[in-house]
Amino acid sequence: MTAADHRIPRDVANLLGTPGAYADGRIHETYRWLRANEPFGVADIDGVDPFWVATRHADILEISRQNALFHNGDRNPVITSQAADRKVREMMGGSPHLLRTLIHMDEPDHLKYRALTQAWFMPQNLRSMEERIRVIARAAVDRMAASGGRCDFVKDVALQYPLHVIMRILGAPEADEPRMLKLTQEIFGAADPELSRDGGAAKPIEEQAVDFGMITDFFDYFRKFSAGKRENPTDDLGTVIATSLIDGQPISDLEAMSYYIIVATAGHDTTSSSTGGALWALAENPGELAKVKADPSLIPGLVDESIRWTTPVKTFMRTATEDVTFADRDVKKGDWIMLCYASANRDEAVFDDPYSFRVDRKPNKHLAFGYGAHLCLGQHLAKMEMRILWEELLPRLDELELDGVPALSEAVFVNGPKRLPIRFKMH
Ligand code: HEM
Repeated sequence: MTAADHRIPRDVANLLGTPGAYADGRIHETYRWLRANEPFGVADIDGVDPFWVATRHADILEISRQNALFHNGDRNPVITSQAADRKVREMMGGSPHLLRTLIHMDEPDHLKYRALTQAWFMPQNLRSMEERIRVIARAAVDRMAASGGRCDFVKDVALQYPLHVIMRILGAPEADEPRMLKLTQEIFGAADPELSRDGGAAKPIEEQAVDFGMITDFFDYFRKFSAGKRENPTDDLGTVIATSLIDGQPISDLEAMSYYIIVATAGHDTTSSSTGGALWALAENPGELAKVKADPSLIPGLVDESIRWTTPVKTFMRTATEDVTFADRDVKKGDWIMLCYASANRDEAVFDDPYSFRVDRKPNKHLAFGYGAHLCLGQHLAKMEMRILWEELLPRLDELELDGVPALSEAVFVNGPKRLPIRFKMH
């Protein structure tokens, strides 16, 4: 069966590229339809190269497992337009990548670069940071308690706490946090009228990053930061990256800047989204809140379920390295494939009652962190941060309800709650 036999209807395919569909729930209807009717089909939408769309948990798992057959670096690993692709290739001497992060690499480079920081993100090392992170969490909870029983949980807690943690880990000054938050929101919220630098032009991330100077701002910031770490090395991740060697040579400027950017952005926005998504779901499901308050041993389950529920990283792309028959379809070398993690995480074949939020869901084999060679480097940190926040917050939270209409950001790559007004009582 060829790609032409498995074309996804235009109106369905268009939603995959519509940022608003990720904010108002239409994307979940789209995924449900695709899983039932065209689980591995081709989307052909205006201005974007055609791409296969994988929506079933089993297919996404299999593609992620076979990283030699399904590469990250041969084309853009993030969905982009033909216009943005052309612009980036012109700027980057033919390369489709504006950055060279771990996500943009394949073996053998990928493992060498991943090894530079892997030890930092392993549970053994993270345990040594637990108390410092708890102090940060407690301060966030104290501020919430002092806010008079009403707040926007996203702006006041969920965005600030993981940002503070990752900036401490990098060894960046606290005064720089607002700047980093704004840049990250402008990158991931590039299509959202409230978050983007230009008011939500319908342009993909890279095109906006170039046109509106976000990438230059990131580079300006991290160039100075990196030079500072080389001059005055300290015991932090920023110094590890600045002083690292690849094949005996100092890491290049592009690759060091890319490393900082992925850690600084992926390192907080996703955790913020899952944290906000958790509180939103608990406010809407008082029975689940009562369960986890009554039995704190359910907190790790709450963390996993909220990551499944929000799935902040909606998609990544892969490229086939050879002709292959996959899911009974003829995939050609060079074909581009979208992995829809948020669809995998609502797949009825894997999850019992997938549209319900359950803090005691077991097993919970979600794919929100991806799988295989590129499995999220920060997953243990993200889970630990969230666990600690709930351990500090839940015992003090007596009442919780929504205090207005929450909202998700409009974005096709990374999204999550951008507004969560709540009313609460705490002691
Ligand atoms: C990779 C999700 C938190 C750093 C990824 C991937 C996903 C993801 C889906 C790609 C996996 C794949 O392609 O198979 C998430 C979610 C998070 C989170 C949902 C929070 C709930 C973090 C944190 C960091 C981080 C706290 C800290 C620095 C990275 C890095 C990669 C990555 C460096 C690239 C790994 C590689 O390509 O080898 N993450 N992430 N992430 N994540 Fe996370």
